[in-house]
Amino acid sequence: MARRKLVAGNWKMHGLAADLGEVTVISMAAETAAADVALCLPATLIERAVRAAPGFAIGGQDVHRADKGAHTGCVSAAMLLDAGARLTIVGHSERRDAQGESDTDVKAKAEAALAAGLDVILCIGESDQVREAGRAVPTVSAQLDASLPAAITDPGRFSIAYEPIWAIGTGKVPSIADIGEMHAALRERLIAAYDEAGEQVRILYGGSVKASNAAEIFAVPDVDGALVGGASLKPSDFLPIVGAAAS
Ligand code: PGA
Repeated sequence: MARRKLVAGNWKMHGLAADLGEVTVISMAAETAAADVALCLPATLIERAVRAAPGFAIGGQDVHRADKGAHTGCVSAAMLLDAGARLTIVGHSERRDAQGESDTDVKAKAEAALAAGLDVILCIGESDQVREAGRAVPTVSAQLDASLPAAITDPGRFSIAYEPIWAIGTGKVPSIADIGEMHAALRERLIAAYDEAGEQVRILYGGSVKASNAAEIFAVPDVDGALVGGASLKPSDFLPIVGAAAS
């Protein structure tokens, strides 16, 4: 079945008021794009970005599993929605690593965000040691199984991002064959989990996506878009990737 592609930018810990103009330029191009486009921004910038780019999909980069409470420094789904966000990333490897987030934590975050009304991009991916040991597909499949929400009511609101850790911010990208093998395996797991709805969940690729490699990656079966870090900060880098998804 045809799935409309999603190109989501992840600004990570980048972005000040002075960068809101970039959000506006990207949002204007997104209006006529043939793919869905979103930007996941630092929490501090979300509300101003929503004002600067009304109607455009602005997201957070993480969410707490609880609605509110004694969790210093954390942001809940209700807070993201209150700021005008429509989606959030969960389980990015930089959080799994640096904050010690487990698959169980990521599953709880995804369930909380979906229940609150946010769309979710759930990240998974293997280390270089796992890839070199030839265990990438079983390892990432198990990570997916353990991180997936128990149920999804609207598969269009839920995406997976396959992001090999060794490809993030490094300029290294898996071979097209390796991306295809992984996305096909993940599709099987999604169908096993959700039956036909698993066909409609988008599986994004992430890790050093650039204008120069996007078209080749988007042509792989079961690649339904991209999660883009470094190349999402400037419209001149990001919009050609959006264009590749649309063609
Ligand atoms: P990158 O980051 O595009 O800079 O490799 C991707 C990500 O971490 O989501």
